[in-house]
Amino acid sequence: MQNNLKFPKDFLWGAATSAYQVEGGIDNCDWAKIFPAGKACDHYNRFEEDFDIAKSLGHNAHRFSIEWSRIEPEEGKFSEKEIEHYREVIKALRERGIEPFVTLWHWTLPLWIRDIGGWENKDTAEHFLKYVFRITHALEDVRFWITLNEPEIYASNSYLKGIWPPQKINPIAYFKVINNLIKAHKKSYKIIKAINPDEHIGVAKNNIYFEGWQFFLIDWFWNKYFLNKIKDYHDFIGLNYYFHRRFPKNKNEIVSDMDWEIYPEGIYHVLKNLKKYSKPIYITENGLADAKDEKRTIFIKEHLRWVHKAIEEGVDAKGYLHWSLLDNFEWDKGFWPRFGLVEMDYQTMERKIRPSALEYKKIIENNGIIE
Ligand code: FCB
Repeated sequence: MQNNLKFPKDFLWGAATSAYQVEGGIDNCDWAKIFPAGKACDHYNRFEEDFDIAKSLGHNAHRFSIEWSRIEPEEGKFSEKEIEHYREVIKALRERGIEPFVTLWHWTLPLWIRDIGGWENKDTAEHFLKYVFRITHALEDVRFWITLNEPEIYASNSYLKGIWPPQKINPIAYFKVINNLIKAHKKSYKIIKAINPDEHIGVAKNNIYFEGWQFFLIDWFWNKYFLNKIKDYHDFIGLNYYFHRRFPKNKNEIVSDMDWEIYPEGIYHVLKNLKKYSKPIYITENGLADAKDEKRTIFIKEHLRWVHKAIEEGVDAKGYLHWSLLDNFEWDKGFWPRFGLVEMDYQTMERKIRPSALEYKKIIENNGIIE
């Protein structure tokens, strides 16, 4: 591949987080009762410091999520104080010249929603819409909304593998959940568009590079079903790329601390497969657990090389948000996986910029890779 690569002029660069994983102090949601995140990174109180860091690293975009259980702790009772908090968050980003990508639901459910059966219950979509209506009205000045994060990963861990709340193993529930999420997305799309037709709305999809015809069916279901269903109800595709599956078996030559195979070429194939939807694509997550920061720089560069190749071949990729800005609470795994461009000391809450973050900064400053 070429050594020097330039990305399109208006390409967006940054990192991503989610509320439960970084904010701390969220105890009114389903996750908190099974996998408590405690103070997490205390980002709720330190977001300005964190955005200063993001700015110092050259970021001009940032993805974060809004915590539904903060905004609507009880059915129909919306917290003005918490709405104001997220106004401040968006303001802080804007003041630093960073474009917010706002996720409306990144996996956690208020307890009162848990108690009516979460996404298995079709009423949850109606409740979600009320929350979406309220919050999207309140937060002017957001151009990019991500309604839902990775529906397939959520539904399979929560309803097929029984690991995540509500820890069920029930294929019927799984399909109900997926279909209710589709409904929730489509209706949210209409609601947000009615407020402001210029806002861009999408889903963050975890798409996997399935290598081999043997995966035909799962490839269709995992990568395409949701997108096919929301055709005409989205303005961009958010791509979260982490995984590659091959037949008979992945070689796993290079892996992250979580033993996830590192396979940069996969992002190219996944992007090419998304081309047929004719929508702009923002990479809304891509990253690895790497406590020693030995592989992150190469990881970022290699993935970007493949993204660039896809762009050269006509894929409309418009941004890259690395997962994650900070080390954070990695769901059922807890705090040990280290995904951050910035290292966290959870005792002192000190933030320390990793060398790879500075390499990423150089890429951003050059709007590409120069070697
Ligand atoms: C994705 C999630 C994100 C984070 C990364 C490692 O599936 O969206 O919250 O946990 O994986």
